[in-house]
Amino acid sequence: MANLIRTSGCFLLFTFFFSSFLSYLLALTDAEVSLIAHRQLLTLHDNEELPNEFEFEVDVKVTFANKALDDPKLSVVAGVDLNQADIAGYLPSEMGLMTDLALFHINSNRFCGVLPDSFSKLTLMHELDISNNRFVGSFPKVVLNWPNLKYLDIRFNDFEGCLPEEVFVKDLDALFLNNNRFGCNIPESIGNSTVSVVVFANNNFTGCIPHSIGNMANLNEIIFIGNSLGGCFPLEIGMLKNATVFDASFNQFTGNLPSTFADLKKIEDLNLENNKLTGIMPQNICNLPCLKNLTFSSNYFEGEDQACLSPSRKDIVVDDTGNCLANRPSQKSSSTCLPILSNPVDCSKDKCGGGFSTPHHKPPSPKSSTLASKAEIPPPSKPPL
Ligand SMILES: *[C@@H]1O[C@H](CO)[C@@H](O)[C@H](O)[C@H]1NC(C)=O
Ligand SMILES: *[C@@H]1O[C@H](CO)[C@@H](O)[C@H](O)[C@H]1NC(C)=O
Ligand SMILES: *[C@@H]1O[C@H](CO)[C@@H](O)[C@H](O)[C@H]1NC(C)=O
Ligand SMILES: *[C@@H]1O[C@H](CO)[C@@H](O)[C@H](O)[C@H]1NC(C)=O
Repeated sequence: MANLIRTSGCFLLFTFFFSSFLSYLLALTDAEVSLIAHRQLLTLHDNEELPNEFEFEVDVKVTFANKALDDPKLSVVAGVDLNQADIAGYLPSEMGLMTDLALFHINSNRFCGVLPDSFSKLTLMHELDISNNRFVGSFPKVVLNWPNLKYLDIRFNDFEGCLPEEVFVKDLDALFLNNNRFGCNIPESIGNSTVSVVVFANNNFTGCIPHSIGNMANLNEIIFIGNSLGGCFPLEIGMLKNATVFDASFNQFTGNLPSTFADLKKIEDLNLENNKLTGIMPQNICNLPCLKNLTFSSNYFEGEDQACLSPSRKDIVVDDTGNCLANRPSQKSSSTCLPILSNPVDCSKDKCGGGFSTPHHKPPSPKSSTLASKAEIPPPSKPPL
């Protein structure tokens, strides 16, 4: 079957292809999600080649191999996989008629425009990957209509504006937002999120990390690299008992690192590089049992734990360069350190820091032992002058 779909001067090539899509209907395991997170996370780049503006032969192969969920005799298109097909064009609103779609992968093409409103009818959608295209506009709110969505990957596009609060109330496993032009604060609703992986990297998010972060029940990996986030870190980060990756590098974070970071018992990679952090690297972080890589270069730390300096465990990589550490190699000059160190930030008074007392957080109660014990943790001490 050959067909030509012309939309706004762009041509679409469709190769509908799918196999064993049922495997995608199962929730991702932690291992799979972790693999996905590491898979070309920040290395994907737009295809720099100029679009081919010629009309070309459009070859549409549609294979009807899946059975409709409500009628086993009916064959339907349940998955579309057009990854890396070098296709330019808009998504036609007629695609909203493909109501059996559970899987839609069109990453690394040159699709432009927005997700059509008609996509809100694709309520069986389980995985959407439209990464590395040229989609524009605000966050594609049509995806919020899909009750079964588990995996949402919209990274490497030109989306902009604020994130809707609702995205964190969906039952998602993985959320990739990186390398767009999103801005505004990260919504407080993040605490309701079920994701095990979320990547905010390389956008223009501003403001605090919300205090509610500690309520993210399934979180394994959270990546904030390369935004304009700032203020002190909230103490509640220490409640992320299952987090293996926490990366807040290349932002504007200030103040002392809360001692609650030493509660991240599963942490493997902790990256705080290139912020404005001060004070002493809290004790016990370099003794965390799963730690592999602690990077806090290019900050204003003045002290660190002996365990970081001469790790008894040779499996730990520590990068402490570019700080204000006495007797350590490759540090900032005292003239660079002095202006920052003589104006310390009091995190107990900072709206981003402090913690366990904001309206967004449940007050400690006898029923909630975790919160009750956390509430006893004193605020971080002032860094020495
Ligand atoms: C998110 O969780 C908080 C409690 O932690 C709750 O008050 C709020 O209503 C939730 N938000 C949504 C949109 O469900
Ligand atoms: C990032 O956001 C800030 C504050 O909203 C704004 O002033 C700045 O222009 C934005 N930067 C970019 C690169 O969009
Ligand atoms: C950590 O993971 C375990 C096992 O999946 C789970 O029972 C526990 O509730 C999680 N804890 C937190 C704080 O997320
Ligand atoms: C440690 O983490 C930093 C920052 O993510 C990275 O640049 C570096 O390559 C890592 N080192 C090792 C040995 O994995």
